[in-house]
Order: sequence, then structure tokens, then C-alpha cells
Amino acid sequence: MKINDSVVDRDTYAVVGDPIDHSLSPAIHQLFAEQCGVALRYERWHLSAENFEQSVVAFFENGGGGLNITAPHKLRAFRLCSTVANRASLSEAANTLFSSQDGIAGDNTDGKGLLSDIDRLGWPVAGQRILLVGAGGAVRGVLSSLLEADPQQVVIVNRTAEKASQLAEMFIANKQVEHAAPIVAAGLDYSDAPFDLVINGTSAAYGNAAPDIDMRLLSGANCYDMMYGKELTPFLSAARDGGAKALADGLGMLVGQAAESFFIWLNKEPDIEPVIAQIRERISQTSE
Ligand code: ATR
Repeated sequence: MKINDSVVDRDTYAVVGDPIDHSLSPAIHQLFAEQCGVALRYERWHLSAENFEQSVVAFFENGGGGLNITAPHKLRAFRLCSTVANRASLSEAANTLFSSQDGIAGDNTDGKGLLSDIDRLGWPVAGQRILLVGAGGAVRGVLSSLLEADPQQVVIVNRTAEKASQLAEMFIANKQVEHAAPIVAAGLDYSDAPFDLVINGTSAAYGNAAPDIDMRLLSGANCYDMMYGKELTPFLSAARDGGAKALADGLGMLVGQAAESFFIWLNKEPDIEPVIAQIRERISQTSE
């Protein structure tokens, strides 16, 4: 079978999304494959909403190895699956698909990607006071993994405070995540500092802005931006100016979520550290 003129077989993997041109996933998985001595072909396919379901079903009917799903299709992917991992159902989003005896199976590796990167940085989570900025898909995708890491408290602040409350209530009501941490929801005017760890999960950077939070919340904190780029992101610039203890962007999370997908598909655990360095180098050479 062919998607965008590619022949699909069991060694075929791909990331699908809309837009997809700038996805780094093919480069990341190629580096994993070389590191682990695995032969695979990892492609990048543009799928619009109209042909998403049909193309994904056809890919697996024809024996494709696995798919990564990126924006805006993670919810549609989740709904398409016959079986889903707990962490995917909690976020109602799937970013990793594979074939199982029951049909298409889905998982969400974003939370694991974030946690493995924070661990790589040597930043503690257990017992820490954590601020999550944003209440959209990105935050929803990582919340269960964060709670399972046993923080002291998680505060979710969002420009639309109501959305933060809904997300908090959803996780408080859901007993599938075993955690003891109190979850607090608020608007961006929240000011009860200090925090040990602040994570930006907003898309404010698309407008070249940082979320308008009280700078005192960033002082002395490890600050993580799920966004990444060639330059310091707007949130990390604000965090640096606000006296953050340490800064990290989301490139390590991107590589970490890819590593967890690779593990699901191929049962091999690549070392993310050298791959982060190689992808960072590649980004530094781009003109954008
Ligand atoms: P994603 O899947 O990337 O999380 P999303 O579900 O559209 O995308 O969520 C975007 C998040 O970024 C939301 O929390 C949004 O806040 P609202 O819920 O109030 O819209 C947040 N966001 C986007 N632009 C922002 C800005 N300029 N300042 C603060 N928060 C912003």
C-alpha cells in the first residue's frame, strides 16, 4: 500500500500531523535505529482531518510497524483505537499507535518523555512544589505522569481559569492515578510563591510571548518549557530575568517521548543524551 507514494511494510514507521514539514521525529528515530542496530524506515506524512482515520486504518491493515501522531490529531487517534493504555485514556490523547490482536492500540508517551528529561537534568519531582502553566492538550498529556512522580503539590494556572479548574477536577475525580498530591487550580494572577519546578505548557510562544504570570513564581525555581527552539524561548527568557535556578527547553522531552515510542514498538531503550545533542546541533544550523 502507499501513503504519499511510500510502500508500507512492517519496518515502516511514520509521524503524521498537519502541518508536518518541520517534524524532527524522522531524524530522531533514525538516530535511535543506528544506535540500537535496528533497520527501519521512518517517514513524515501530512494527513488532514478528512483522510486521517482512513489512512491510519489502511496503514495498519497493510502491516505498517507503528505511527506517531502529532497535532492536531492526537484526540482523533485516541478515539480510533480499539485499546488504549491508561496514560492515554487519562489525557484522551494518543501519540503512539501500533497493531495489537484487538486492532489498533494507542499510548501516550509525552508524560514519560517529560519525566525522563527532568530526571536526566537531575531535577527532583518527588516532594516538590510544582507549577504547571497552561491547561490545554500539552498539560493534560503530562499531568498523570507528573502526579505519579509524587510531588508535594501541583498548582495549575491558566489564562482561562475555568479550564484549569476543569482539568484539576477531572484528575481529582479520577481514581486511576494513584497520587497523594493536592491539585490547586487558578488564573494567571496566582502569586503564592515559591515553587521548586515551573513547567510551561502554553502555546504562548507561537505568538512570541511568555504567559503573563507573576515573575516571583519563577524566582529560585527549575524552569522547564515544553516548547523548544534555536533561541531561548520567551518563557525561558522571562524565567532567566526572573531569577530562575535553572532553565531547560522541551527538546529533551521531544526526544524522550520518541524514545518511549521506540521502546513500545521495538522493545529497545535508546540512550537519549547523545540524540538530544545531535538534534540540538541540527537545529542550530537551521536558518529559522
Ligand atoms: P496545546 O495542545 O498546545 O496545549 P491548546 O489545547 O490549544 O494547545 O492549549 C493552549 C494553551 O496555551 C491553553 O492553556 C491556552 O490558554 P487558554 O486556555 O486560556 O486559551 C494557553 N495559551 C495560549 N496562548 C497564551 C498566551 N498568550 N498567554 C497565556 N496562555 C496562553
